[in-house]
Amino acid sequence: MKLNPLVSQLALSDIDNTPGVAADVSHVNSRAEVAGYVGEEQLEKALEGCDLVIIPAGVPRKPGMSRDDLFNINAGIVKGLCSAIAKYCPTALVNMISNPVNSTVPIAAELFGVATLDVVRAKNFYTEKAKINVGDVNVPVVGGHAGITILPLFSQATPKANLSEGDIKVLTKRMQDGDTEVVEAKAGKGSATLSTAYAGAIFADACLKGLNGVPHVVECSFVQSTVTELPFFASKVRLRKNGVGEVLGLSSLSEYEKNGLESLKPELKASIHKGINFANQS
Ligand code: LMR
Repeated sequence: MKLNPLVSQLALSDIDNTPGVAADVSHVNSRAEVAGYVGEEQLEKALEGCDLVIIPAGVPRKPGMSRDDLFNINAGIVKGLCSAIAKYCPTALVNMISNPVNSTVPIAAELFGVATLDVVRAKNFYTEKAKINVGDVNVPVVGGHAGITILPLFSQATPKANLSEGDIKVLTKRMQDGDTEVVEAKAGKGSATLSTAYAGAIFADACLKGLNGVPHVVECSFVQSTVTELPFFASKVRLRKNGVGEVLGLSSLSEYEKNGLESLKPELKASIHKGINFANQS
């Protein structure tokens, strides 16, 4: 975000270490002024005046854990931060990165869940398989952000490549297990952080472009939705001055994708209700 020319002020907030990180990042010679804030008592200062808040807070996974295993810790952290946002910068757009995104977004509606990491992976894996230039590739990813709820729409990928049904099944499975590939390779030292930061920065840039009135900014995001019968769903959204200007439909799906869509619904529905119930209880 320090490199993004649309950022004038960058406020970093965490439970410790932020002054050091802020001093370090502030030496990068780009436009944004950087400040570090520590703890809940400085949250008000950190949030005041923000147009966009990015939440990557919480704990990462260890091998053998699912994203849902993070719910008990991360849901409380997210709820605290969202309450502070509602108080100190209620008109800000909020990008939710903290897992399980399928449940943390419903905890505080009106947010964008960052599904860009799935799009980043889909573009990369598709490029490798189709042997085309990564810069030109686009692949929508819909549903949610966990296991089978991640549904890449390779039938809508551009440029078109002649992949077999078998190739598409292998790519889809790799997408759905992309998180585990990293968790296992890190062998107990966390989950994807660098590719997550890259994806978060791309999505935040799209939000800032939307806020600045740039036309035709479209990204996939997990948002409140009527695209299916589920109250939250990831699909393409058009970003405008007020945030989500329009939630776009699914277009035409292959038989394989239609089956994938029906199979993901029960799991996604349960994760959404877990978040909604948590928000209502506490
Ligand atoms: C990922 O998809 O790799 C991230 O959401 C991190 C994680 O723990 O799954």
